[in-house]
Amino acid sequence: MSLRKIGILLSGRGSNFEAIQRAIAAGTLDAEIAVVISNREAAPGIETARRFGLKTVVMPSQGVPREQFDRELVRVLNEHQVDLVCLAGYMRLLSGYFVQAFPQRILNIHPSLLPSFPGLDAQHQALDYGVKYTGCTVHFVDEHLDNGPIVLQAVVPVEDNDTYETLSARILAQEHQIYSKAIGIVLRGEYRIEGRRVICV
Ligand code: GRF
Repeated sequence: MSLRKIGILLSGRGSNFEAIQRAIAAGTLDAEIAVVISNREAAPGIETARRFGLKTVVMPSQGVPREQFDRELVRVLNEHQVDLVCLAGYMRLLSGYFVQAFPQRILNIHPSLLPSFPGLDAQHQALDYGVKYTGCTVHFVDEHLDNGPIVLQAVVPVEDNDTYETLSARILAQEHQIYSKAIGIVLRGEYRIEGRRVICV
């Protein structure tokens, strides 16, 4: 039987979370969002989740030691029987404890073609470097930043007249496509991992 229950972690706008929810509502992704957790009270994404009538939990993280916070996070995710954790603009590093609690069961979306431009402000990094192509990446999460095996990527050309805003918007449109697709592949178990390579089967 395939896995179904997703837990979303977010800290901000939540447009990727919304795209996932829309794919579920449209029937293109067979899954259920069991809980949406924000580490910031003011995250617009958590308000959207409330509007959708989803189960929401706000856990302010400021000043809380990383592992102590992550232990509580794991408890809440397990309480909601989450099969797959999806980071959707979650602005906090995960502890080894958290990663080990969900082995190959955590996905992240990053706005560049990893391993180029990890970390913050990937779109600025791409513009500053002068690459002609950038994009976005859905990858499994391990204990290193923006590092785990890559499930899907989408390429976005950089136009000569691009600004941070125009480039980010075109990348975001691709993020919204590939995140749901990647979640479907992982939930249905249609992949195997060979070294760093995720082979879709
Ligand atoms: C996205 O660009 C995502 O790639 C990055 O954080 C941003 C989150 O945007 N990890 P949103 O909150 O999903 O709108």
